[in-house]
Amino acid sequence: MVPRDTIRSGEVWSDTEGRVIQAHGGGILFHEGVYYWYGEYKDGPTRRSPVDRVDVIGVSCYSSLDLLNWKFEGLALKGVDRPGHDLRPEMVLERPKVVFNRKTGKFVMWAHIDSADYGYARGGVAVADSPAGPFTYLGSVRPEGRMCRDMTVFVDDDGSAYHVYASENNATILISKLSEDYTAHTGVYAKAFENKFWEAPALFKHGGRYYMIASGQSGWAPNPARSAVAPTPMGPWTELGNPCAGGKAGTTFDSQSTHVLPVAGRPGAYVFMADRWNPQNLRDSRYVWLPLRFAEGKPKLEWIDSWSPDQL
Ligand code: DGJ
Repeated sequence: MVPRDTIRSGEVWSDTEGRVIQAHGGGILFHEGVYYWYGEYKDGPTRRSPVDRVDVIGVSCYSSLDLLNWKFEGLALKGVDRPGHDLRPEMVLERPKVVFNRKTGKFVMWAHIDSADYGYARGGVAVADSPAGPFTYLGSVRPEGRMCRDMTVFVDDDGSAYHVYASENNATILISKLSEDYTAHTGVYAKAFENKFWEAPALFKHGGRYYMIASGQSGWAPNPARSAVAPTPMGPWTELGNPCAGGKAGTTFDSQSTHVLPVAGRPGAYVFMADRWNPQNLRDSRYVWLPLRFAEGKPKLEWIDSWSPDQL
C-alpha cells in the first residue's frame, strides 16, 4: 500500500493491508506514542428487521503513529455466539470507547449493548491488559438503574472518568462518574439537556472548560450537530448551538459525531470524528474527520476535502 498523506472524509479508507477500515461509532485512545482507533466492526450483511443493523461481530482495533495510516490489530472484543450472551450475533453493539486507567494499568472499554429492538438499553464493560486486547467482557448494566444508549467515556486530567449516555428513552443525557477502576458507576451523576433528545455525545476539554458535541435523533439519517460548554464534566451545561458552518452545516456534512480527539503534542488541536452512515449497507458507512477549531470561544467545524494532521 502507498502510505496515505491526507485525510479525505467520505472516501473509502483502507488499512495498511488495503482492507476497508471497519471502526464505526468509534473513538481513539492515545497511549505511549501510539493512536488506537476502536469501533464497530460491521463487515457483515445489513439486516432490515426490526431495524437496519449488522449482526454483532466485535470491536475492532487499529493502530497508527500519524492518524493517517492504520494497521489492523484484530478484534479487541469479539462477539460471542452463545444463547443469552450480551454479545451474541442478534444483539447490537455500538459506540465502543476505550480508556486507560493509570492506577490499575488496565484498558477499560464501555459500549452500548442492546437488543435488536433497542429495548435492552445497557452499557457493557470489558477490560484488557494491553491496548489491542483481548478484552474480557465483564457484563452490562443499566447505569444508575437507567437506560443507556449512545454513549462515550471521558477521562479528566485528574484521572476521574465519566460515562456520558443518552438515557430516559433517549430524552436526556446522563453523565455518571465512574469508580476508581472505571468499571462501575458510583451513583454520582448529573442530567443534561433534559428532554432535548441529544445523542452521539463526544466530550473534550479545552482551556480548562469542558465541551460536548452531539447530534439530534433521526435514526441513521444525519441532522444538525449541537455543542455546549461547562465548567465541570457534570455541568451546568450552556448550549453553544450548531458548531458547523458552510454548506451541509445542517446535516453535519452528512455525518454524526462519535469522538473528539485531542492531537498529541499539539495543545488546542482537535480532530472531530464522525460517521457517515449508510443504512442500506452499513459496512460501507464512511468516516468524516475534520479539524475542530475555536472561534469566539466556540468550537467550529468547516468542511475541508483533504487535510493532514501536520497542518493542525
Ligand atoms: C443513531 C445512533 O447514533 C446510532 O449509534 C445508531 O443507534 C442508530 N441511531 C440506529 O438507528
